[in-house]
Amino acid sequence: MLERLGDWKRSSYCAEPAAVDIGKTVTLMGWVQRRRDHGGLIFIDLRDRTGLMQLVFNPEAGVVHAKAHDLRSEFVIAVKGAVGKRPVGTENPNLKTGEVEVVVKELKVLNDSAPLPFMIEDETDVAETTRFKYRYLDLRRASLQRKLLLRHRVAMATRNYLSENGFIELETPVLTKSTPEGARDFLVPSRLAPGNFFALPQSPQLFKQILMISGFDRYFQIVKCFRDEDLRADRQPEFTQIDAEMSFVDREDVIGVMEGLIVRIFKEAGVDLKPPFPRMTYSEAVGRFGVDNPDVRFGLELKDLTGALKGSGFKVFADAASRGGVIKALCVKGGASFSRKDLDDLTEIAVSFGARGLAWVKLTEEGWQSPIAKFLSDAEKETIVKALGAEKGDLLLFGADKAAVANTVLGRLRLNIGGRLGLIPKEGYSFVWVTEFPMLDYDETEKRFVAVHHPFTAPMEADLEKLDTDTLKVRAQAYDLVLNGSEIGGGSIRIHRSDIQAKVFEKLGIAKEDAELRFGFLLDALKFGTPPHGGIAFGLDRIMSIITGSESIRDVIAFPKTQKGADLMSDAPSGVDAKQLEELFIRLAKKVEKTEKA
Ligand code: AMO
Ligand code: AMP
Repeated sequence: MLERLGDWKRSSYCAEPAAVDIGKTVTLMGWVQRRRDHGGLIFIDLRDRTGLMQLVFNPEAGVVHAKAHDLRSEFVIAVKGAVGKRPVGTENPNLKTGEVEVVVKELKVLNDSAPLPFMIEDETDVAETTRFKYRYLDLRRASLQRKLLLRHRVAMATRNYLSENGFIELETPVLTKSTPEGARDFLVPSRLAPGNFFALPQSPQLFKQILMISGFDRYFQIVKCFRDEDLRADRQPEFTQIDAEMSFVDREDVIGVMEGLIVRIFKEAGVDLKPPFPRMTYSEAVGRFGVDNPDVRFGLELKDLTGALKGSGFKVFADAASRGGVIKALCVKGGASFSRKDLDDLTEIAVSFGARGLAWVKLTEEGWQSPIAKFLSDAEKETIVKALGAEKGDLLLFGADKAAVANTVLGRLRLNIGGRLGLIPKEGYSFVWVTEFPMLDYDETEKRFVAVHHPFTAPMEADLEKLDTDTLKVRAQAYDLVLNGSEIGGGSIRIHRSDIQAKVFEKLGIAKEDAELRFGFLLDALKFGTPPHGGIAFGLDRIMSIITGSESIRDVIAFPKTQKGADLMSDAPSGVDAKQLEELFIRLAKKVEKTEKA
């Protein structure tokens, strides 16, 4: 029989009563985590978002005891009782309320629960698809609740810090025009303007710049962004940015204020950071670590042997160098013990990132063991050993290719090997600002320049005149913040002059009319007194997943999407009825099979 709450008022959350409250009467409400029948005594662990409280039902309590007997997992109950000390020897040091218990005098059963698809436990091996289908149950797990409560505190700390520093929280539209951030747009058809579409924002980039033109001076927003891209552990199709923009600033101003924000966020998680964070230029990051988001928690850095080996008798090396490429190497300490299978795995990774092969050398007791040893002179071998500081027992890996390929390949291998050999510390936070990104990259398939950050990023003043002559050498006033090898934020100083912006669009191969069509409003706005400005956006989900030590950002998002971009709980995306499509003037090109969403 279910009962009404009536005039009962909760006196505290489950995990609040402590030793100082012994003797007090409390009213608690929550879910039945577990029931244990000990002959006469019945114990219930009562759970709410603060934790657990052990309830005790004595046989002398008559009808209350009988009711307790019928309680099952996840029933919702309210109890009145007295806080008591647990008998000596039955305390639970692992529990916040482990010293006390509540001896129940009155019980109301407010709701029952259907049998559960899985138990509500911190550690679980239930398939993620099942957890996502029953996300409301999954979210009852203390581990997830702790992460989301911390996320709330981090969002509050962010609002407080930025407000204290003169930032104003303003909302920007969700139904908007495409903003290029490098991903595909999610489109929303317009019913009132048939044949036209809104794009969901990939970021509020253009609006925040326009807010600077409007004179708001400092803006921020904790904002949903939408990107239709292939998903990974650290990517969701909708995710949250801490987005900010500032007027009359240079890079150092932005970095200074934002380091303060990061310090404040980590303080919320009980971590004291000591700014300023280290800096590294893009070219140093790529040169030493192979990637623009270097994990600087461990060594195993890339070495450049192009100069030393360009005249090598090994054709692969000599050819790469003569074509303007590079010869780079990794020296893996102790790696000579890698098996044939390990080397095959590494080769497979190398090839998947574009390598044509992976030359390797094991320095064994017997000397060089390597498919390329026969191509190298003794002098060359000595040069290699010296340049890499290599010793017996080491494994040497080589990438000879265009710089971009060789760096990416060895950078990826470095991360994989770092993981295999346990070189990456489990604790600690290593930040690094990566600066001086190239402004443009050349897209071989599209045969045109593309913006490395986005097309509104200002070139470094020193490089401005190279825009026409040495386009790929132009560096941007862009910066990323990298934490433990993950890009947690990125921003730039913007172009604030319409002539330079038009020129950059031209470089990007965006025709004048096209630029007018897509960004005309920005080009117009830039003409009306635009202050110099710049900003940044942090990935809140990524920050939270690193702070909470989660394997995936899905663990710090209340209702995440699967790898295939689906919400298994609400069953989205889903088909719509013909009438809805008709109203939007949309007809499906062909009958599509129902697709697997998980
Ligand atoms: P950017 O594209 O670098 O910059 O995005 C900023 C930060 O957002 C996070 N992020 C993501 N997190 C989860 N899932 C995704 N799919 C995803 N994509 C990006 C990353 C990234 O560093 N408008 C610019 C910012 C600016 O210039 O001020 C922008 O959006 O942590
Ligand atoms: P090959 O002479 O092509 O059989 O190559 C000899 C060795 O060099 C093999 O171990 C290949 O995996 C490796 N190799 C081939 N191309 C490259 C390259 N571009 N960079 C590094 N190693 C390579």
